[in-house]
Amino acid sequence: MRCGLFATSLQGRPAAKKNLFSRHEKTWTPENILRVNLAGEHGATHIYRAQIAVASLFFRDMLPFLHETLNHEKRHCRLFHDMAAARSVRPCRAMTLWALGGGLLGLSSTLFGAHGVWICTAAVEATVYRHMRSQLTYLKPRDAELYALVATILREETGHLRYARSRAGVLTPPMRALRNAIAMATEFAVQRSF
Ligand SMILES: [Fe+2]
Ligand SMILES: [Fe+2]
Repeated sequence: MRCGLFATSLQGRPAAKKNLFSRHEKTWTPENILRVNLAGEHGATHIYRAQIAVASLFFRDMLPFLHETLNHEKRHCRLFHDMAAARSVRPCRAMTLWALGGGLLGLSSTLFGAHGVWICTAAVEATVYRHMRSQLTYLKPRDAELYALVATILREETGHLRYARSRAGVLTPPMRALRNAIAMATEFAVQRSF
């Protein structure tokens, strides 16, 4: 299945595409990778919490995926937090904004029904996937410990992405616009979290 900006093959590895916000990838350091990833995982937990609150009322068939994914994101958050603490890396100053933005994004995605939730998940997870792939390239010759952690977490993020894309299906132009807006908002938040 191909979805324009975030094309993926459900059979193989999702394709990583550059976009307008990719310049910061030239400035990766282990410290800012930990900072950005911790902030992103924190935001992700709030997206899924908000979606679970609404899905409990209207889209109960989504709950198994949402609960399992939330548990993954909570664990990712804890793992990045523990490594950041062990290395005395200060957290992102905008952690509260990540939580608020994540909750708002999760809630607003449900306004478009279950399809909106799948599109939101696919857009956010595609951004996560692309950044983590870029981080692995940077980390491989430089930081074996953080490389191993990101690689482990990326396997689960890839599962989230593939499943959401398979459920989102073919997007109409308005839904494509929604997906692109969510992806750009996520990229913008990443840019502000170094
Ligand atoms: Fe995660
Ligand atoms: Fe995820």
